[in-house]
Order: sequence, then C-alpha cells, then structure tokens
Amino acid sequence: MQQDMILVIDLGGTTNSTLARQIRGLNVYSEIQPHDLEPAAYPAWPRVKGIIYNGGANRIVDGKPVMPSAGLRAASVPQLALACPDLDGIHQAAWDADKLKNFVYKTCQCQPRWTMDAFIEEQVALLREQIGDQRVLLALSGGVDSSVVAALLIKAIGSRLTCIHVNHGLLRKDEPEQVVQVFREQMGATLIYIDAVDRFLDKLAGISDPEQKRKIIGAEFIRVFEDEATKLAGIRFLAQGTIYPDIVESGTKTARAIKAHHNVGGLPEDLAFELVEPIKYLYKDEVRACGLALGLPASMVNRQPFPGPGLGVRCLGAITRERLEAVRESDAILREEFDKAGLTDQIWQYFTAIPDFKSVGVRDHARSFEYPVIIRAVHTVDAMTATIAHPDWAVLDRITNRIIQEVKGVNRVCYDLTPKPTGTIEWE
Ligand code: XMP
Repeated sequence: MQQDMILVIDLGGTTNSTLARQIRGLNVYSEIQPHDLEPAAYPAWPRVKGIIYNGGANRIVDGKPVMPSAGLRAASVPQLALACPDLDGIHQAAWDADKLKNFVYKTCQCQPRWTMDAFIEEQVALLREQIGDQRVLLALSGGVDSSVVAALLIKAIGSRLTCIHVNHGLLRKDEPEQVVQVFREQMGATLIYIDAVDRFLDKLAGISDPEQKRKIIGAEFIRVFEDEATKLAGIRFLAQGTIYPDIVESGTKTARAIKAHHNVGGLPEDLAFELVEPIKYLYKDEVRACGLALGLPASMVNRQPFPGPGLGVRCLGAITRERLEAVRESDAILREEFDKAGLTDQIWQYFTAIPDFKSVGVRDHARSFEYPVIIRAVHTVDAMTATIAHPDWAVLDRITNRIIQEVKGVNRVCYDLTPKPTGTIEWE
C-alpha cells in the first residue's frame, strides 16, 4: 500500500527538514519540495494528501517574494501556511504539535503508516521491480549508509548483489574484519575484499597538505574500485548510500530545496551504471532504524560520523605507518573507555589525532622522545558549530594511562578544548 504524503514546500526558511521530520514523527511520510514545483510534473503527486508552506522568515529572496507555483496553489488538497522563526544554529524549532496533528490526521485524513517495517517492505518491492533479474554492484565501506544499502539489497535480490570492500588502511581498528564477518559470514553477501593498504600508503608517503591527502585518497579509491568493477562483467546497476540530507538543502537561501544531485560515493559518472539509491529519502536516524530492523549489529548501525579519508586526516601531516598505528590504537582505547563509561550516546563525535612532532618525557627512569596523542570530543547538532564535551576527569585519566602504557611511541596525551569555530571538528 502506498504511503500518504505531506509535502513541505520550501519558501526559503531554514527549518524544512525539522518540519518534515516532525511530520514523519507522526508516522506520516513527508518530503520537501521547492516552491516552483508543478504537481503535473511530479510523479509522486497521487500520494500527496496535504501541503504545508514553510514560510520561515526569508520569503524575500534576491529582492523578490517567493511565491508557490500556480499549480500548487490550485491543487485540490488541504493547504496550510506555517510561519516558523528561523532558529539560527539550533535547528530545533518545534511546531505546535496539536495543530500539526490536526492538519495531518483530521484535515488531510492521512493514515499513520510510515514505519520502518513498511518502508523496508515497500523498498524491497521497488528494488525488485527496478532491478529485475539484473545484478548490482556496491562499494561497501562499512559506514552506516552503505551497510544499510547492502542489507536492503541482500533482502531484495540476495546473491545478485556484489559488494566491494576496499581496505585503504585508514579505517578504525577491526573495521575491515567486522565488514567481512557481518556481510560475508552472517548475511551471506557476495563480498570482494580488496587489501589496498600498501597502494594507498605508498601514494600518500611524504604528502603533508590535508587537501592533497584528501584528493589522493578519493582518487585512489575510485581507481581501485574501477579496477575491480571492470573485472566483473555484466553488472548493470551501481548502488549508492545517498541519504536525504545529501539531496535536500535545509538552509536554502534560494528556496530551491533540491541540490544538484551530487555523486556521494565520489564515483565517476562514466562508469556506465544505472544508479540504485534505496535510502535517498531517509534521514540519518531513519537509516539507523532501518539497519537495526534489517538485523545489522547495533555497533555498526550506531556508529558516529567518520570522514571518508578516515584516519588519514587524523594522522596529521605526512602519514607514517608508525603514527597511523598509534592513532588507530589510541582511538580504539578512547572508544572502549567512553563506551564503558556510558558516554557513547552522549557525545556526538570523539576520536584521537596524532601530530607529526615529538615531545620530551620520562619512561622507566630514562628520557623519552615520543609523539603526543590529542583527544577530541564534541557536541553538535549539525557539525557546522560544535562545543567540547566535558567527560569526567576520572575517565580521561583512565584513557590517558592506557594510551601511554599500551600505545607504542606515545608518551603524552592532550585534551582539545577548542569549540568550532575556531577549530574545525577534525584537525585537518
Ligand atoms: P569539520 O572538521 O569540517 O568536520 O568540522 C565536520 C564533520 O565532517 C566530517 N568530515 C569529513 N567527512 N570527508 C567526510 O566524509 C571529509 O573529508 C571530512 N572532513 C571532515 C567530520 O568528521 C565531522 O563529522
């Protein structure tokens, strides 16, 4: 059964996503569309049961008032204009819950059927329809999004999905092993594991500029993936873990909700595949809920954000194997101890970074000259601004003692006190 839908029309406010999520919280599907949407050209129109104009405070864009299209204004579904103050940097605006409920359930007669189980059932059917008896390729990083896409496709088409996991040597401790264990052994996926550690580290040797490091890692990833993809004949589709925030701009100044659909995996368009993007209408928390409903382990689904270039941007300056191991080990200790202290759900992102200079210390009554490790732990809503977390000193003491005892080449631990701005969350 098709889901009812409430459209949120973007008139230039910054709270569209918050509103859409509040409606989804009522178990009714909601999507954001630009003000110039023409119903006749919108394939999902038959599902639309109501329209909300999210005015925000910026209805004048480029000196002109933003007006909904004639088609929208003439549409014969209930329409509601809502003004919500733009809450800069907070993005936690809440609309009058009773007013919304009344509009959604009573005025528009929507049925509360938007649940993860319903989504999965609908997506599996859609995927089977789109893919038919063809095969699909997926770059499976082990991050939340690609893992959930893999799990959905396994449910829909089983062994006709081929996953490629590229280990570039910049993943966290035990991550590549977990990907192989969960997908190959537990879920029975066809998984090609590529050990490209030497290839990446050779390319990165001596490169200290952060942007150049990012470019090398991105470009090399594409090359490795292409090399493997061309070995596999007869695959028509490429799956991607695009999610809703990737395609919707919530803070739009132009009242155009949909960004140019960027190539999220960074894969080249001339790979000659058709795209399959089964989670492109889900917000991150829904992606996680979907993963859990599909049986993925909580440790995989509830992962905190991890940059594409991985530990490559946390091993500061030119990457060396010695410091890369030290950052991987210290990060594992930090995560283990925060987990034990019950901080996992309370801090948005935390990790260690290792600089490329040494400091003097004492070890076993002798002078030592080793690297420091920096702990960073931040609270944020949208990663645009951040404040630092204040974990208990006792927890930090425990982590410090473990790092200086267990991590080779490290004699000092620092805690980064910098909010964003001025510091970005990552050091590079
Ligand atoms: P910054 O350091 O810019 O980070 O305050 C904001 C968020 O983005 C993540 N981040 C990245 N993610 N590729 C990514 O996929 C990158 O190059 C990258 N750099 C930063 C960072 O971990 C934080 O969550």
